[in-house]
Amino acid sequence: MNVLIAYASARGSTQAIAHPIGERLRGRGPHARVGPMDDVDEHCLELADRPIWLFDVGSARVLGGGFERRAPTPESVARISAVAKVHDHHRFADAIARDDLSFRGRLFLRLVGGRYGDFRNRDEIEAWADTIAAEFVPRAPTSGGTT
Ligand SMILES: Cc1cc2nc3c(=O)[nH]c(=O)nc-3n(C[C@H](O)[C@H](O)[C@H](O)COP(=O)(O)O)c2cc1C
Repeated sequence: MNVLIAYASARGSTQAIAHPIGERLRGRGPHARVGPMDDVDEHCLELADRPIWLFDVGSARVLGGGFERRAPTPESVARISAVAKVHDHHRFADAIARDDLSFRGRLFLRLVGGRYGDFRNRDEIEAWADTIAAEFVPRAPTSGGTT
């Protein structure tokens, strides 16, 4: 089974999550290739009838509480779900760097008690990849029970 892990990433957080997903899947059996979303654009018609898992990355996961509960589902998730079989959508925490934020962004982060740092969680990423890999492992036949 071939798996494509496609990402779009302006500052690197999403890309740095896509790669460990690929590594984990490869360790569990499927052939997994990690690449930018351009690969998907080229093959979107073929991919429409393949099983799809979606992830996005956001600071709402880091801030937690109401920020996390009220964080909107990305429009792209709704669009893809409308035309393809999406098994799951997962949101990961990102890395928050001071240099990526404007003055207002820094002020906002300070006001809500947020911190700078890399909040991507390797265990969570690998656990999610394992749920995907589990779909590709041939299931043991159930015992027939004939005597
Ligand atoms: C200016 C700015 C505004 C952001 N606003 C939000 C937000 O409203 N909600 C959220 O969950 N993440 C927010 N983020 C985090 C980004 O969505 C997240 O880091 C990004 O999707 C990961 O992208 P990357 O792969 O380009 O690093 C913001 C980041 C920046 C720099």
